[in-house]
Amino acid sequence: MLIIAHRGASCLAPENTLPAFRSAVKFGATMVELDVHQTKDGHVVVIHDERLERTTNGNGFVGNFSLSLLRKLDAGAWFAGRFAGVRIPTLSEVLSCLPRRIGINIEVKNNIVDYPDFEQHVLAVLRRFHSLHRVIISSFNWASLEKLHRLEPTLKLGLLFDCFRPDLWPAARLLNVFSLHPAVHLVDKQFIWQAHCWGYRVFPWVVNDPQIMIELKAAQVDGIITDCPQVIGAN
Ligand code: G3P
Ligand code: CA
Repeated sequence: MLIIAHRGASCLAPENTLPAFRSAVKFGATMVELDVHQTKDGHVVVIHDERLERTTNGNGFVGNFSLSLLRKLDAGAWFAGRFAGVRIPTLSEVLSCLPRRIGINIEVKNNIVDYPDFEQHVLAVLRRFHSLHRVIISSFNWASLEKLHRLEPTLKLGLLFDCFRPDLWPAARLLNVFSLHPAVHLVDKQFIWQAHCWGYRVFPWVVNDPQIMIELKAAQVDGIITDCPQVIGAN
């Protein structure tokens, strides 16, 4: 079972930052999950929200800032004083900082703000770092996944969903997805069995309760997306 650190080890360090990704690796994660947005000047940056307020000392939309301005912001102090000075990383930095054995689940966060040529920019970074094979790209924006599939058919894709949609199985087939990423409350043995029959992995989110981790493992889930990889990673 893969242990996928949600926004890095986000219960130990500020989410979607290099300390959170390093901590995930240290505590036994086999993959990290991260969220990407785009700056005004077309750089792909790692941050969860469309806006800056919750996880930085900035204000406004990520997409209204150039990379050089975003890099001046503090993305660590909100979590704990010892992380003051931690910056919003670019996707390139995360790809260079993580060991090649660690998988990366990149969530493209363009379901609220539609960034110009976002898919092309994400792909350009992945190609530059020879990383197409080491990532799974997931999104709630299935149209964006379709675009990525057209641009790069070898990409591993994951369908994200928080409620059952009637087009789930047709979309999975059309995009030849690698994995399904349901909210954990949607997952049971039957669902996992059905997904496996079609050849799809199942990666539920967000699983922080050790008992649920054990139950999902027994139900043969392929991986769990968790804020706390240390709960299971060290065992
Ligand atoms: O990948 C699963 C999960 O990250 C989706 O929700 O809001 O944490 O990005 P969110
Ligand atoms: Ca995410």
